[in-house]
Amino acid sequence: MRTIEHGKRDGFASLGAGGLKQESFPLRLFAKGNAKHWNPADIDFSQDAKDFAAMTDDERWWTCALAAQFLAGEESVTQDLQPFVAAMAAEGRFADEMYLTQFVYEEAKHTQAFRLWFDAVGMTGDLHEYIEFNDAYMEIFTKQLPDSLYALQHDPSPRNQIRASVTYNHIVEGTLALTGYFAWQKVCASRGILPGIQKVIKHIGDDERRHMAWGTFTCRRHVAADDAMFDVVDERMQELMVPAMGVVTATFDRYEGGEPPFGVDISEMAEYAMDKLGRRLGAIESARGADLLAIDVDASPEALEEKFHAEDQLELAG
Ligand SMILES: [Fe+2]
Ligand SMILES: [Fe+2]
Repeated sequence: MRTIEHGKRDGFASLGAGGLKQESFPLRLFAKGNAKHWNPADIDFSQDAKDFAAMTDDERWWTCALAAQFLAGEESVTQDLQPFVAAMAAEGRFADEMYLTQFVYEEAKHTQAFRLWFDAVGMTGDLHEYIEFNDAYMEIFTKQLPDSLYALQHDPSPRNQIRASVTYNHIVEGTLALTGYFAWQKVCASRGILPGIQKVIKHIGDDERRHMAWGTFTCRRHVAADDAMFDVVDERMQELMVPAMGVVTATFDRYEGGEPPFGVDISEMAEYAMDKLGRRLGAIESARGADLLAIDVDASPEALEEKFHAEDQLELAG
Protein backbone atom coordinates (compact mmCIF):
# COMPACT_ATOMS: atom_id res chain seq x y z
CA MET A 1 0.00 0.00 0.00
CA ARG A 2 1.51 3.30 -1.09
CA THR A 3 1.33 6.37 1.13
CA ILE A 4 0.41 9.94 0.24
CA GLU A 5 0.92 11.20 3.81
CA HIS A 6 2.48 14.67 3.77
CA GLY A 7 6.28 14.42 3.63
CA LYS A 8 6.21 10.62 3.26
CA ARG A 9 4.98 10.18 -0.33
CA ASP A 10 6.02 6.97 -2.07
CA GLY A 11 3.22 6.95 -4.66
CA PHE A 12 0.37 8.98 -6.15
CA ALA A 13 -3.34 8.58 -5.48
CA SER A 14 -4.27 9.92 -8.91
CA LEU A 15 -2.14 7.25 -10.65
CA GLY A 16 -3.73 4.31 -8.84
CA ALA A 17 -6.03 1.79 -10.58
CA GLY A 18 -9.54 3.21 -10.91
CA GLY A 19 -8.26 6.81 -10.80
CA LEU A 20 -9.81 9.35 -8.44
CA LYS A 21 -13.30 7.89 -8.10
CA GLN A 22 -15.13 10.93 -9.43
CA GLU A 23 -18.44 9.57 -8.10
CA SER A 24 -17.25 9.75 -4.46
CA PHE A 25 -19.01 12.34 -2.31
CA PRO A 26 -15.98 14.64 -1.74
CA LEU A 27 -15.26 14.87 -5.47
CA ARG A 28 -18.90 15.53 -6.18
CA LEU A 29 -18.69 18.51 -3.78
CA PHE A 30 -15.41 19.61 -5.38
CA ALA A 31 -16.91 19.63 -8.90
CA LYS A 32 -19.95 21.53 -7.66
CA GLY A 33 -17.73 24.12 -5.94
CA ASN A 34 -15.66 24.68 -9.08
CA ALA A 35 -18.85 25.44 -10.99
CA LYS A 36 -19.99 27.96 -8.36
CA HIS A 37 -16.88 30.11 -8.30
CA TRP A 38 -17.39 33.77 -7.31
CA ASN A 39 -15.16 36.77 -6.71
CA PRO A 40 -15.67 38.95 -3.58
CA ALA A 41 -14.10 41.91 -5.40
CA ASP A 42 -17.02 41.91 -7.90
CA ILE A 43 -19.50 42.92 -5.18
CA ASP A 44 -20.50 46.59 -5.02
CA PHE A 45 -20.77 47.90 -1.43
CA SER A 46 -21.52 51.55 -2.27
CA GLN A 47 -25.19 51.35 -1.23
CA ASP A 48 -24.14 49.47 1.95
CA ALA A 49 -21.99 52.46 2.92
CA LYS A 50 -25.02 54.77 2.57
CA ASP A 51 -27.31 52.40 4.50
CA PHE A 52 -24.70 52.00 7.25
CA ALA A 53 -24.31 55.78 7.62
CA ALA A 54 -28.09 56.17 7.96
CA MET A 55 -28.39 53.68 10.86
CA THR A 56 -28.94 54.61 14.53
CA ASP A 57 -25.94 54.11 16.86
CA ASP A 58 -27.48 50.93 18.30
CA GLU A 59 -28.10 49.49 14.85
CA ARG A 60 -24.60 50.35 13.74
CA TRP A 61 -23.08 48.70 16.82
CA TRP A 62 -25.17 45.53 16.37
CA THR A 63 -24.31 45.35 12.66
CA CYS A 64 -20.59 45.78 13.38
CA ALA A 65 -20.69 43.11 16.12
CA LEU A 66 -22.34 40.63 13.76
CA ALA A 67 -19.96 41.44 10.88
CA ALA A 68 -16.87 41.35 13.14
CA GLN A 69 -17.87 37.93 14.48
CA PHE A 70 -18.08 36.73 10.90
CA LEU A 71 -14.81 38.34 9.83
CA ALA A 72 -12.81 36.89 12.76
CA GLY A 73 -14.65 33.59 12.41
CA GLU A 74 -13.84 33.25 8.69
CA GLU A 75 -10.18 34.02 9.40
CA SER A 76 -10.16 31.36 12.17
CA VAL A 77 -11.68 28.66 9.99
CA THR A 78 -9.31 29.50 7.09
CA GLN A 79 -6.41 28.69 9.39
CA ASP A 80 -7.84 25.89 11.47
CA LEU A 81 -9.02 23.64 8.64
CA GLN A 82 -5.46 23.05 7.50
CA PRO A 83 -4.69 20.21 9.96
CA PHE A 84 -7.75 18.40 8.57
CA VAL A 85 -6.26 18.60 5.05
CA ALA A 86 -3.11 16.84 6.30
CA ALA A 87 -5.20 14.32 8.27
CA MET A 88 -6.98 13.29 5.05
CA ALA A 89 -3.61 12.68 3.36
CA ALA A 90 -2.44 10.64 6.37
CA GLU A 91 -5.56 8.47 5.94
CA GLY A 92 -4.87 8.11 2.19
CA ARG A 93 -8.00 10.03 1.21
CA PHE A 94 -6.87 12.26 -1.64
CA ALA A 95 -10.42 13.06 -2.85
CA ASP A 96 -11.16 14.54 0.59
CA GLU A 97 -7.86 16.40 0.51
CA MET A 98 -8.75 17.92 -2.88
CA TYR A 99 -12.13 19.00 -1.60
CA LEU A 100 -10.64 20.49 1.58
CA THR A 101 -8.16 22.61 -0.38
CA GLN A 102 -11.14 24.19 -2.17
CA PHE A 103 -12.86 24.51 1.21
CA VAL A 104 -9.87 26.42 2.71
CA TYR A 105 -9.75 28.69 -0.35
CA GLU A 106 -13.45 29.47 0.03
CA GLU A 107 -12.97 30.39 3.72
CA ALA A 108 -10.18 32.77 2.69
CA LYS A 109 -12.57 34.38 0.19
CA HIS A 110 -15.22 34.75 2.90
CA THR A 111 -12.65 36.57 5.06
CA GLN A 112 -11.84 38.86 2.13
CA ALA A 113 -15.54 39.58 1.51
CA PHE A 114 -16.27 40.73 5.10
CA ARG A 115 -13.04 42.77 5.23
CA LEU A 116 -13.96 44.53 1.98
CA TRP A 117 -17.34 45.34 3.50
CA PHE A 118 -15.81 46.95 6.62
CA ASP A 119 -13.43 48.95 4.42
CA ALA A 120 -16.33 50.09 2.22
CA VAL A 121 -18.43 51.33 5.15
CA GLY A 122 -15.43 53.21 6.54
CA MET A 123 -14.73 51.04 9.60
CA THR A 124 -10.95 50.85 9.24
CA GLY A 125 -9.94 51.22 12.92
CA ASP A 126 -9.27 48.29 15.27
CA LEU A 127 -12.37 46.09 15.52
CA HIS A 128 -11.46 43.74 18.41
CA GLU A 129 -13.91 45.51 20.75
CA TYR A 130 -16.79 44.06 18.70
CA ILE A 131 -15.87 40.48 19.62
CA GLU A 132 -13.90 40.65 22.87
CA PHE A 133 -16.93 41.47 25.05
CA ASN A 134 -18.32 38.07 24.03
CA ASP A 135 -16.63 35.52 26.35
CA ALA A 136 -18.32 32.54 24.71
CA TYR A 137 -17.13 33.70 21.29
CA MET A 138 -13.55 33.98 22.55
CA GLU A 139 -13.80 30.53 24.20
CA ILE A 140 -14.85 28.92 20.92
CA PHE A 141 -12.58 30.76 18.49
CA THR A 142 -9.40 31.02 20.55
CA LYS A 143 -9.66 27.70 22.38
CA GLN A 144 -12.23 25.04 21.44
CA LEU A 145 -11.89 25.36 17.66
CA PRO A 146 -8.07 25.49 17.41
CA ASP A 147 -7.55 22.89 20.17
CA SER A 148 -9.77 20.30 18.51
CA LEU A 149 -8.38 20.91 15.00
CA TYR A 150 -4.68 21.02 15.88
CA ALA A 151 -5.11 17.76 17.87
CA LEU A 152 -5.19 16.14 14.40
CA GLN A 153 -1.55 17.08 13.84
CA HIS A 154 -0.40 14.51 16.37
CA ASP A 155 -3.24 12.03 16.16
CA PRO A 156 -5.62 12.00 13.14
CA SER A 157 -7.66 9.12 14.65
CA PRO A 158 -11.41 8.78 13.88
CA ARG A 159 -12.20 10.02 17.40
CA ASN A 160 -10.17 13.21 16.89
CA GLN A 161 -11.60 13.70 13.40
CA ILE A 162 -15.11 13.54 14.83
CA ARG A 163 -14.30 16.00 17.61
CA ALA A 164 -12.76 18.34 15.04
CA SER A 165 -15.65 18.00 12.58
CA VAL A 166 -18.37 18.47 15.19
CA THR A 167 -16.61 21.60 16.48
CA TYR A 168 -15.89 23.04 13.05
CA ASN A 169 -18.70 21.84 10.77
CA HIS A 170 -21.59 21.32 13.14
CA ILE A 171 -21.09 23.97 15.83
CA VAL A 172 -19.12 26.80 14.21
CA GLU A 173 -20.56 26.50 10.70
CA GLY A 174 -23.80 24.62 11.29
CA THR A 175 -24.97 26.46 14.39
CA LEU A 176 -23.18 29.80 14.74
CA ALA A 177 -22.63 30.83 11.12
CA LEU A 178 -25.94 29.49 9.86
CA THR A 179 -27.86 31.34 12.58
CA GLY A 180 -25.86 34.48 11.76
CA TYR A 181 -26.73 34.24 8.06
CA PHE A 182 -30.36 33.88 8.98
CA ALA A 183 -30.10 37.02 11.16
CA TRP A 184 -28.46 38.97 8.30
CA GLN A 185 -31.12 37.90 5.84
CA LYS A 186 -33.94 38.93 8.18
CA VAL A 187 -32.40 42.32 8.91
CA CYS A 188 -31.49 43.09 5.30
CA ALA A 189 -34.66 41.77 3.74
CA SER A 190 -37.05 43.37 6.26
CA ARG A 191 -35.55 46.82 5.62
CA GLY A 192 -34.35 46.38 2.05
CA ILE A 193 -30.85 47.49 3.11
CA LEU A 194 -27.20 46.39 2.62
CA PRO A 195 -27.54 44.88 -0.87
CA GLY A 196 -23.79 44.09 -0.97
CA ILE A 197 -23.95 42.06 2.23
CA GLN A 198 -27.05 40.31 0.89
CA LYS A 199 -25.02 39.14 -2.12
CA VAL A 200 -22.11 38.06 0.10
CA ILE A 201 -24.45 36.02 2.31
CA LYS A 202 -26.00 34.31 -0.70
CA HIS A 203 -22.63 33.23 -2.08
CA ILE A 204 -21.23 32.23 1.30
CA GLY A 205 -24.37 30.25 2.10
CA ASP A 206 -23.88 28.35 -1.15
CA ASP A 207 -20.31 27.46 -0.13
CA GLU A 208 -21.22 26.65 3.46
CA ARG A 209 -23.86 24.10 2.49
CA ARG A 210 -21.11 22.04 0.86
CA HIS A 211 -18.82 22.54 3.89
CA MET A 212 -21.44 21.31 6.35
CA ALA A 213 -22.38 18.41 4.07
CA TRP A 214 -18.73 17.32 4.08
CA GLY A 215 -18.73 17.43 7.91
CA THR A 216 -21.86 15.28 8.08
CA PHE A 217 -20.34 12.87 5.53
CA THR A 218 -17.10 12.60 7.55
CA CYS A 219 -18.93 11.84 10.79
CA ARG A 220 -21.17 9.36 8.95
CA ARG A 221 -18.28 7.36 7.54
CA HIS A 222 -16.61 7.04 10.97
CA VAL A 223 -19.89 6.11 12.66
CA ALA A 224 -20.59 3.49 9.96
CA ALA A 225 -17.12 2.00 10.48
CA ASP A 226 -17.32 1.96 14.30
CA ASP A 227 -20.62 2.35 16.11
CA ALA A 228 -18.90 3.64 19.29
CA MET A 229 -18.05 6.80 17.31
CA PHE A 230 -21.64 7.97 17.54
CA ASP A 231 -21.13 8.57 21.26
CA VAL A 232 -18.14 10.78 20.41
CA VAL A 233 -20.37 12.88 18.13
CA ASP A 234 -23.00 13.24 20.82
CA GLU A 235 -20.45 13.95 23.58
CA ARG A 236 -18.73 16.73 21.63
CA MET A 237 -22.06 18.36 20.73
CA GLN A 238 -23.05 18.35 24.41
CA GLU A 239 -19.72 19.90 25.42
CA LEU A 240 -20.17 22.80 23.02
CA MET A 241 -23.89 23.46 23.34
CA VAL A 242 -23.58 25.98 26.20
CA PRO A 243 -20.74 28.09 24.76
CA ALA A 244 -22.43 28.01 21.31
CA MET A 245 -25.69 29.36 22.72
CA GLY A 246 -23.63 31.88 24.71
CA VAL A 247 -22.20 33.31 21.48
CA VAL A 248 -25.70 33.93 20.14
CA THR A 249 -27.13 35.39 23.37
CA ALA A 250 -24.17 37.64 24.36
CA THR A 251 -24.97 40.09 21.56
CA PHE A 252 -28.46 40.52 23.03
CA ASP A 253 -27.38 40.99 26.69
CA ARG A 254 -26.73 44.63 25.89
CA TYR A 255 -30.43 45.15 25.21
CA GLU A 256 -31.77 43.36 28.27
CA GLY A 257 -35.22 44.64 29.12
CA GLY A 258 -35.31 46.67 25.91
CA GLU A 259 -35.75 45.98 22.23
CA PRO A 260 -32.75 44.74 20.25
CA PRO A 261 -32.18 46.66 17.00
CA PHE A 262 -34.02 45.57 13.84
CA GLY A 263 -36.54 43.69 16.03
CA VAL A 264 -34.32 40.57 15.97
CA ASP A 265 -35.87 37.87 18.13
CA ILE A 266 -33.43 35.90 20.29
CA SER A 267 -35.69 32.93 20.96
CA GLU A 268 -36.38 32.57 17.25
CA MET A 269 -32.62 32.55 16.60
CA ALA A 270 -31.92 29.95 19.31
CA GLU A 271 -34.77 27.73 18.09
CA TYR A 272 -33.47 27.98 14.53
CA ALA A 273 -29.97 26.88 15.61
CA MET A 274 -31.21 23.94 17.69
CA ASP A 275 -33.52 22.64 14.98
CA LYS A 276 -30.71 22.41 12.40
CA LEU A 277 -28.28 20.83 14.87
CA GLY A 278 -30.78 18.16 15.89
CA ARG A 279 -31.62 17.23 12.32
CA ARG A 280 -27.97 17.00 11.28
CA LEU A 281 -27.33 14.75 14.30
CA GLY A 282 -30.18 12.56 13.01
CA ALA A 283 -28.45 12.33 9.61
CA ILE A 284 -25.25 11.13 11.31
CA GLU A 285 -27.17 8.65 13.44
CA SER A 286 -28.74 7.12 10.33
CA ALA A 287 -25.23 5.98 9.29
CA ARG A 288 -25.03 3.53 12.22
CA GLY A 289 -24.52 0.06 10.80
CA ALA A 290 -24.55 1.35 7.20
CA ASP A 291 -22.33 -0.04 4.43
CA LEU A 292 -19.16 2.07 4.09
CA LEU A 293 -19.06 1.82 0.30
CA ALA A 294 -22.60 3.13 0.12
CA ILE A 295 -21.74 6.03 2.47
CA ASP A 296 -18.89 7.08 0.18
CA VAL A 297 -21.26 7.81 -2.73
CA ASP A 298 -24.36 8.76 -0.72
CA ALA A 299 -25.37 12.37 -1.46
CA SER A 300 -27.92 12.60 1.37
CA PRO A 301 -25.81 15.03 3.49
CA GLU A 302 -25.94 17.47 0.57
CA ALA A 303 -29.67 16.92 0.08
CA LEU A 304 -30.26 17.73 3.76
CA GLU A 305 -28.48 21.10 3.47
CA GLU A 306 -30.45 21.92 0.30
CA LYS A 307 -33.64 21.11 2.20
CA PHE A 308 -32.65 23.51 5.03
CA HIS A 309 -31.96 26.17 2.41
CA ALA A 310 -35.34 25.70 0.73
CA GLU A 311 -37.05 26.01 4.14
CA ASP A 312 -35.17 29.25 4.86
CA GLN A 313 -36.20 30.74 1.52
CA LEU A 314 -39.82 29.88 2.23
CA GLU A 315 -39.63 31.38 5.74
CA LEU A 316 -37.99 34.58 4.50
CA ALA A 317 -40.48 34.96 1.67
CA GLY A 318 -43.35 34.65 4.15
FE1 LIG B 1 -16.97 30.56 5.65
FE1 LIG C 1 -17.28 27.12 5.91
